[in-house]
Amino acid sequence: MIALPAPIAVAAPLVPAAPLASDLPESLSLDDGRAVTIRPVTPEARNLIQQGIARVSPESSRRRFFTVRRRFSERELDEMTRLDGWRRFALGAVARGPDGPVGAGIARFARVADDPRVAEIALLVVDDFQRVGLGRRLLARLARAALERGVERLTGIVQPDNDPMIALLERHAPGPALVRTGEHLSVEVHLDARRVGTALAA
Ligand SMILES: CC(C)(COP(=O)(O)OP(=O)(O)OC[C@H]1O[C@@H](n2cnc3c(N)ncnc32)[C@H](O)[C@@H]1OP(=O)(O)O)[C@@H](O)C(=O)NCCC(=O)NCCS
Repeated sequence: MIALPAPIAVAAPLVPAAPLASDLPESLSLDDGRAVTIRPVTPEARNLIQQGIARVSPESSRRRFFTVRRRFSERELDEMTRLDGWRRFALGAVARGPDGPVGAGIARFARVADDPRVAEIALLVVDDFQRVGLGRRLLARLARAALERGVERLTGIVQPDNDPMIALLERHAPGPALVRTGEHLSVEVHLDARRVGTALAA
């Protein structure tokens, strides 16, 4: 007799069929009146990202990438822009410059491999757009996008001298936990729809 293999359990697809609210572009005014549009990152954003990183100061770059980056390789641009929108998702903020659109900031999350309810976040606002509320707005929208996708906890690694990011989390994220792990701080933000709506109001 031939032993038949056990039936294979087919997991329900994770990706929702209909677009989510966080998939829609949103235009808004920053605290200094400049207009930006925030929308999910797609491969069309490659040039804006490459041009944007060239305008980021060494200090901001080091805070985000732990080293100074002036440009990205084609492979890195692929990784940053070819996102499935579920496990890996990013929002980009685009402003109007004198010669056309310019990248102003980017925020992304990636679910951790062993727990899809947890996602690691990263945030970068180009220096000439810092301190006018863009980081706060990107973080708020990223948190909402994560919640919409069933993420319950955001994590991240922050350098202990990164006062802007620590202040952003302490002032605008719902009850962040900052824990020193070796030479870095690990961040945990528990998402809950009610608190994301208020603490991360933008
Ligand atoms: C951290 C970062 C994203 C903040 O973005 P931002 O657009 O300048 O922040 P916002 O203008 O929205 O400010 C939000 C809050 O952050 C805090 N903050 C921002 N910049 C600050 C600074 N230079 N010093 C102290 N607090 C600061 C403030 O508390 C502010 O809240 P308030 O306006 O109610 O006082 C930006 O500085 C950045 O991209 N830094 C480099 C990359 C990085 O560090 N990324 C995080 C690691 S993944």
